[in-house]
Amino acid sequence: MNNNISPITIAIDGYSSSGKSSMAKALAKKIGYRYIDSGAMYRAVTLYAMRNNMVSPQHEVDSEKLIAALPQINIDFKVCEDGQHTMLNGEDVEKEIRQLDVSNNVSQVAVIPQIRHALVAMQQAFGTEKGIVMDGRDIGTTVFPDAELKIFVNASAETRAMRRHKELLDKGQQSTYEDVLANVMTRDHIDENREESPLRKAEDAILLDNSNMSIEEQDKWLIDRFNEVIAK
Ligand code: DC
Repeated sequence: MNNNISPITIAIDGYSSSGKSSMAKALAKKIGYRYIDSGAMYRAVTLYAMRNNMVSPQHEVDSEKLIAALPQINIDFKVCEDGQHTMLNGEDVEKEIRQLDVSNNVSQVAVIPQIRHALVAMQQAFGTEKGIVMDGRDIGTTVFPDAELKIFVNASAETRAMRRHKELLDKGQQSTYEDVLANVMTRDHIDENREESPLRKAEDAILLDNSNMSIEEQDKWLIDRFNEVIAK
């Protein structure tokens, strides 16, 4: 980080599997900022709910029980050699929260207003000193409405499902393209239509459709936007 320049807040929102986490991570590393994956926080709460029998096989969440359990749920991040790991009550759950069964329940947890309020407060606490890149669905609209740089990322559902499917296979996790596409489309629908801070582009966010971009191209595009903001 250039110490002569005041650190800023960077909000990167977008659809699931749009590649926003990879770009956010790469940018944070390059500019020496802290990276926070807000989706991982919703996933960790979901895992807690699943482990404590608060989610039915039909994906119904016992929201009352889960809200009451909030004080017992501690989420943090630990920097490891292969990147940042999500910690749930001191346990490294990074691998488990990425599994398809968690993906299939997380949107139902993320619609609960009290859960959102609690996580938004935690996310805001991570960002009090700026110098942060956070990705999610409502970072530019709700968590950091005053962020100096806001990006909204999208790509077609098929492109996103293909990327996610490859990622799961690379990690040795079983899935079919059809299952992943169905999950992506269901989550899009729930994320866009929930009452509490639905997924939408902040008015002052810059739209990026990365369907036809390589990782290098999108990383360069993002660093260019960052340089533009700090040059102002
Ligand atoms: O980015 P992700 O796929 O890991 O996010 C998991 C889920 O969490 C996603 O379906 C929507 C929800 N989410 C949210 O509602 N708000 C955020 N800021 C981040 C994620």
